[in-house]
Amino acid sequence: VITVLRYGHRPQRDKRITTHTALVSRAFGADRFVLAGPDEVPCRTVNSVTKRCGGKFTAENTPNWRKFLRDFKGVRVHLTMYGLPLSDVVDKLRSAKDMLVFVGAEKVPPDVYQTCEYNVSVGNQPHSEVAALAVFLDRITQGKWEKRDFGGKLKVVPQERGKKMEEE
Ligand SMILES: C[S@@+](CC[C@H](N)C(=O)[O-])C[C@H]1O[C@@H](n2cnc3c(N)ncnc32)[C@H](O)[C@@H]1O
Repeated sequence: VITVLRYGHRPQRDKRITTHTALVSRAFGADRFVLAGPDEVPCRTVNSVTKRCGGKFTAENTPNWRKFLRDFKGVRVHLTMYGLPLSDVVDKLRSAKDMLVFVGAEKVPPDVYQTCEYNVSVGNQPHSEVAALAVFLDRITQGKWEKRDFGGKLKVVPQERGKKMEEE
């Protein structure tokens, strides 16, 4: 089970990008998304996608992300450009039964680097939590997310050109 914990969301500035971290979590093989702080929009958006497009994915807010991180039972991974290269640790991480993936927005407090069992970088250049998460989940699942059947009411039928959706 893979849980993504999104830290540092600023409701005005980050609404879209936080929603994208939630959508990427769902699409790329995570099972649960937890947002630090009170903004309900990102979780509501992804939960409504899950309702229409399927899967067992859940999204919720936590009022106390530090407690959530501290109490999490499993392997905690903080995605940061300062961490160890993903390719060096991914094989070890894959065997984890339960994993928490911590992604930031603004500056991540120093204690997170200590609490997490792993600080992992997706390259050592600064980029984006959305990109870091997508590449991380792709590597962890070895690309299996692509073949996952969400079993939703609404399904895309892949086309060479144009758009086709099937409704159950
Ligand atoms: C836009 S960055 C800002 C980071 C912030 N300046 C800091 O020093 O903590 C937001 C998030 O994207 C993720 N991120 C950005 N670049 C990354 C990289 N090269 N490897 C892994 N994660 C990365 C991290 O989770 C980070 O907290």
